[in-house]
Amino acid sequence: MTEETLARAEELIARYPLRRSALLPLLFLLQAEDGYVSPAGIAQVAELLGLTRAEVAGVATFYTMFQRRPTGKYLVSVCRTLSCQLRGSDEITGALCERLGVPLGGTDSSGMVTVEEVECLAACDGAPVLQVNTENYEGLDTQAALELVERLLRDELPPPTLAGEGAVTEPSTASLNWRLAGLGEPPAELAGRRPAAGGGASGGGASGDGQGGELP
Ligand code: FES
Repeated sequence: MTEETLARAEELIARYPLRRSALLPLLFLLQAEDGYVSPAGIAQVAELLGLTRAEVAGVATFYTMFQRRPTGKYLVSVCRTLSCQLRGSDEITGALCERLGVPLGGTDSSGMVTVEEVECLAACDGAPVLQVNTENYEGLDTQAALELVERLLRDELPPPTLAGEGAVTEPSTASLNWRLAGLGEPPAELAGRRPAAGGGASGGGASGDGQGGELP
């Protein structure tokens, strides 16, 4: 962790009566900095919290939102649970793997995009749903998912798409995780967003980088 991240970690630790209670927020911080939860990061968090490496690794491996291997700049997570599967997630996953020339969990040769399957992203009304880093893209068909990946390969991140008027779920479970961990909105660089003109990062699920319009 950088000195800045370490200062943030100590600030988070101070919010709890026991240092070990800050484990999840620290794992989020670590992943934001390294892109994944590395063995060295696990050792550092263990030392900070007075835990064993096994205790930290046990938590990091239990929760699927923590990556144990390096990923591409854009991690595409396709929901494979029932609602999304009934609405074509299998076909989307297959098409993305074929386009990128990788198996599930693989990263394309440019290092830009990793594709994986995940369980329910808690946005079932928008099925099929995929997530790019921390943002949800809902109601995509296979063609729209392929167009999204083409843009990611060009290092373009379109604004998230929600199920539509009246959507009841969080724009992004990953954003929600950050807020629940006491970390506020995910950093712009993690979400793939760029700072808004004249100031800080744009926040929330409706933000974008201004590089393009809504996906079809
Ligand atoms: S089943 Fe896909 S978001 Fe819930």
